[in-house]
Amino acid sequence: MDILGISAFYHDSAAALVRDGRIIAAAQEERFTRKKHDAGFPANAVSYCLQAGELKAEDIDFVVFYEKPLVKFERLLETYIAYAPRGFRQFLIGIPLWLRQKLHLPREMDKALGGRYKGRYIFTEHHESHAASAFFPSPFEEAAILTFDGVGEWDTVSFGTGTRNKIELTHVIHFPHSLGLLYSAFTYFTGFRVNSGEYKLMGLAPYGEPVYRDLIMEKLIDLKGDGSFRLNMSYFDYCHKTVMTSSKFEKLFGGRPRRLEGPLTQREMDMAASIQAVTEEAVLRATRHVHRRTGMKNLVLAGGVALNCVANGRILREGPFDNIWIQPAAGDAGGALGAALFVWYQLLDNQRHADGHDKQRASLLGPAYSNEEIHRFLESARAKYHFYPDEGQLIETVAELIDREKVIGWFQGHMEFGPRALGNRSIIGDARSEKMQSIMNLKIKFRESFRPFAPCVLTEDVSDYFKMRPSEDSPYMLLVAPVCEDKRCAVDNVYESLKGFDKLPARRSVIPAVTHVDFSARLQTVDSRRHKKLYRLMSRFKNKTGCPVIINTSFNIRGEPIVCSPEHAYRCFMATDMDVLVLEDYLLFKDEQPQAAPRDVEKYKAQFELD
Ligand SMILES: [Fe+2]
Repeated sequence: MDILGISAFYHDSAAALVRDGRIIAAAQEERFTRKKHDAGFPANAVSYCLQAGELKAEDIDFVVFYEKPLVKFERLLETYIAYAPRGFRQFLIGIPLWLRQKLHLPREMDKALGGRYKGRYIFTEHHESHAASAFFPSPFEEAAILTFDGVGEWDTVSFGTGTRNKIELTHVIHFPHSLGLLYSAFTYFTGFRVNSGEYKLMGLAPYGEPVYRDLIMEKLIDLKGDGSFRLNMSYFDYCHKTVMTSSKFEKLFGGRPRRLEGPLTQREMDMAASIQAVTEEAVLRATRHVHRRTGMKNLVLAGGVALNCVANGRILREGPFDNIWIQPAAGDAGGALGAALFVWYQLLDNQRHADGHDKQRASLLGPAYSNEEIHRFLESARAKYHFYPDEGQLIETVAELIDREKVIGWFQGHMEFGPRALGNRSIIGDARSEKMQSIMNLKIKFRESFRPFAPCVLTEDVSDYFKMRPSEDSPYMLLVAPVCEDKRCAVDNVYESLKGFDKLPARRSVIPAVTHVDFSARLQTVDSRRHKKLYRLMSRFKNKTGCPVIINTSFNIRGEPIVCSPEHAYRCFMATDMDVLVLEDYLLFKDEQPQAAPRDVEKYKAQFELD
């Protein structure tokens, strides 16, 4: 039985195919259209899923949409009415799209499937989809479920339990009270883009001090001991305006929001640190409460807030649960997958067996390209390349290049599902290098110099470098952990007294390129089962250098969706200062290529709106 899950029309549209309970394929639409966070109908992702399943639209048994549009529409109308006549402008902006598309989803989906799908359309609830995406692929027979996001239909937080093939959500918090929207309000106010800049705000937090924490707790959020909360809505305008915060919020934080791309000051850094501290507190309180109420040992998480890997690291280290599992596509893209799994288990009552391994298939669920396809492309692009029929030789060469501080585009196997590149569409480099963070930020990714990079570490060595137990892994790069004391460089009082970005140049550890200013790192563990070739590459690099850690950042420039095809990868390689590109068994050196003219580089960058 084939079930196609779809999420669309909010942000991060995606499609997922589940066959007899097994995840066959899943992808975000942005990767195909090259428009980051593309919210349109995921026509390309659907057609990829059908191709991966060797299916036609008429063969699909069920198509399921990840939320209930009518209930969401009811929430919008009720909110408009509650705030009327304020909000009329936003009403005029939003309603035409609802009337044209969102209220007619079966018609829209029919159109997109060429009128060939004859089955039923099913609509699951937004938080059910998140919860299903967290529990059903998890390694657990039973688990507590916690979802936190901006908003679905009405719910912004939910918790409950999953047991064998059923989930049950028993508690929710309703809009407008939302931890995700509170975080987004700070994202907006500090001059980043809502729904994409939250990650930057989290990365900015370690440069600041949480000096506004108490103020936020006192004025903005009434956070209870059990993690439930209410927001003081007089500080927020998101219910009836296109901006997030009100003039009262501005008064509280001493002035206007930062302009997009304006200078970052101590205020923004301190606000980032403060909202991060509040978020962690709310999530930890909720986690403890859910543990008390459910009595379970395992916890699964999804929803946009579950991408806050600093909070996740604290749940793992300080929370009461023995084990946690987080859906790698925790945002709305993962709703497509959750919805499809929900139909298979919850509605059709099929058996589910947990065997201690997750069923996410390393989240490598997107398109893959054969050596033949890559060869054809390279010929058509008149690229200069070297073919390595012997994998050992390729790995030896690449390990040597990393050691020589070369920056390498690493394109292998199936594309990742979810916002992180996990070593199949990645840019990799030497984590021991002191110049690498600034080279990668400024010359490769063209992004803000304060942004940290993430390490990949061999699973067996994780606890030598990071404060994790040897049994713990982080295959989906969703946890932040401190770098071990003995891998840190001694910093003096001068470092401690430095403020903001002045801390950046100091060497903080033996892996400076991936050690954030607070000695933390957002790490991915690499094992031989999930990441065969990358594992072999890293093992070879470790043999050579003694270091089991490399940098892994997504294969894209600022504002660009992660590359999907060899053509995307080659174009990105040519437009940046990347030294080497590896496409499956083909290796390209930049200095052997016909050089891209500088104006082509500018043209390339101009295609992508800054995020
Ligand atoms: Fe969501």
